[in-house]
Amino acid sequence: MVFIANFKMMLTTPMAVKLVNDNLADYKALATDSTIIICPPATALRDLQKISNQSSIQLGAQTCGPATTGAYTGDISPADLAACGATYCLVGHSERRNLYFENDVQVAAKAALLATLHITPVVCIGETLVDREAGNTLAILERQLTPVLSALNGLEEHVPVLIAYEPVWAIGSGLVPTPENLSTIFSALSEFMAKKVPTMTYKLLYGGSVSSKTVISLAQVKHLHGLLIGGASLDFQEFKKIVDYFHCPASN
Ligand code: 13P
Repeated sequence: MVFIANFKMMLTTPMAVKLVNDNLADYKALATDSTIIICPPATALRDLQKISNQSSIQLGAQTCGPATTGAYTGDISPADLAACGATYCLVGHSERRNLYFENDVQVAAKAALLATLHITPVVCIGETLVDREAGNTLAILERQLTPVLSALNGLEEHVPVLIAYEPVWAIGSGLVPTPENLSTIFSALSEFMAKKVPTMTYKLLYGGSVSSKTVISLAQVKHLHGLLIGGASLDFQEFKKIVDYFHCPASN
């Protein structure tokens, strides 16, 4: 299982580094049985690079610029993210799509650029409540994925792809889809991937209000290979409970 801690813009660099350092031994222990990916603010990557070099804890970025170099004021090159230790990068997070108007084509181009640099893209997809209530969930997910899969065509050898299904209405709301609903969606996504890109290596993750409470129902979801965790990743004990649940559900 893959567990991604997305700190978003919730912590300053000193706070993010302290959170990781204060719990380093435990993060390392978690990373022996699972893939643990920490996505701090980009300014903290370099400070955490040594830790990731000396352990199996992985670092990820939360977004990246659209090119490796150029006149893109304020953006961070994916090559620079790699130089600072990032081996994963989120693309198309709903907050990027909503607040910064990133579209499917831009998300696909970033995913391909990351793959060429051997950074694993974590492609975020998800529908709004309006889409869901109109019965359009799968159509939206397929629309978001299709350009990404085309852009990654031929790059399968470089890195796998992680696909994070994050329903927009579940993010930060305390609400999660039922395990039955998620299993249906993940089965459909698996079939879609098998049809479109039979040779691509990928994992399906869920994100949106993952906590030590909601993990109990999420653990029942079929085809689930990991979790993308926002708010709960800011409290290490809460994050640990989520990861531990997948290893020993009976004792939780
Ligand atoms: P929450 O876990 O805070 O709902 O955030 C989910 C998310 O957006 C992770 O990328």
